Amino acid sequence: MNKLKVGWIGAGGIGRHLAASAKPVEEIEIAGFADVERAAAEKAANDFGAALYDDWQSLLKEESIQAVVIATPPFAHLDQVMSALMAKKHVFCEKPLALSVADCETMIQAADQANKTFMVGQVLRLFPLFYKSKEILDSGILGKPQSLFIRRAGLAIELFSQGWRAKRELGGGLILETNVHELDYARWIAGEVQQVCVLGRHDSRLGDYEGFWQGLFWFDTGVTGAIESSLIDPLGEYSVRIQCEKGSLTHGGFGGSLRWKTYDGQEGAVEAKDVGTPDPYTWELRAFARHVMFGEPMPFDARDGRQAVALGCACIESLDQGGAMVKVN
Ligand SMILES: NC(=O)c1ccc[n+]([C@@H]2O[C@H](COP(=O)([O-])OP(=O)(O)OC[C@H]3O[C@@H](n4cnc5c(N)ncnc54)[C@H](O)[C@@H]3O)[C@@H](O)[C@H]2O)c1
Repeated sequence: MNKLKVGWIGAGGIGRHLAASAKPVEEIEIAGFADVERAAAEKAANDFGAALYDDWQSLLKEESIQAVVIATPPFAHLDQVMSALMAKKHVFCEKPLALSVADCETMIQAADQANKTFMVGQVLRLFPLFYKSKEILDSGILGKPQSLFIRRAGLAIELFSQGWRAKRELGGGLILETNVHELDYARWIAGEVQQVCVLGRHDSRLGDYEGFWQGLFWFDTGVTGAIESSLIDPLGEYSVRIQCEKGSLTHGGFGGSLRWKTYDGQEGAVEAKDVGTPDPYTWELRAFARHVMFGEPMPFDARDGRQAVALGCACIESLDQGGAMVKVN
């Protein structure tokens, strides 16, 4: 099979994880790495048997590279995505797509004009219990969703108090950097959000943004929702609960189990390990490559990235105004 030659811009935590996840994808050849930390790119190039580039601009000049994975901090995405599209590369960009709706739209317009595939790494949807929950809801057995609740809490003070994650203008803060995943999942399940109302609090051990927040969501489908997230919860928890017309569904996010039950007594349960879906990162990268090569549908694209960023920005605006009701753009 002809392989898609993919270059990596960013060889940090997720860049390396994506490269390891791409290894079993027969549609992808890992062609090279660039990183502002040369040592990181060099190590990845050695580990994955790929070329080393002095910087990302040189990688983009390499004509044989057809596509790029952009796995750099959010503040760098706009410049790198735009340059990659100018260089006629297809683009897979990590979430959050950008730090503003305007930047997302600039990139999407450029991708449309260049006629290039533009995907965003909203991978949460492909984790087993998230994927399974959507499948069960789509089957209709529980009827339409009426309300949803998501809680993501843990202790991540060290990670979020240093480097680019410590500054909202570089990383987006907790809401955009991390919870853009939950926001994307919520709109996948319940439709677009009309308005939000968010309260939260800064924590002095973290960067210049919220250490935890709680938000209420009004979807244009009539669904109501609540999301709560924390970086300072030593107990930690991930839980999802979806109330529907004919019953309810709950799951534990990245692990544990999913259970559902109807008012008339039908019920089911599955453990995350038994769902049987592919590794989420391998799955998204294969889908990206197959969209470029064969035009097959992608599970999510840059427009989903834009919607999730718009929702995140509305949450931040509401939080900064002490819980004002804010419409989503
Ligand atoms: N989808 C997921 O599950 C997931 C998980 C973690 C992170 N992410 C996202 O991936 C992105 C990167 O996160 P990370 O955890 O890998 O961060 P990281 O800090 O571990 O790695 C980022 C890498 O980018 C490099 N870099 C920084 N600026 C650069 C530039 N201008 N040009 C080239 N390289 C540059 C850094 O040197 C570093 O090696 C972020 O957008 C983050 O939100 C996604």
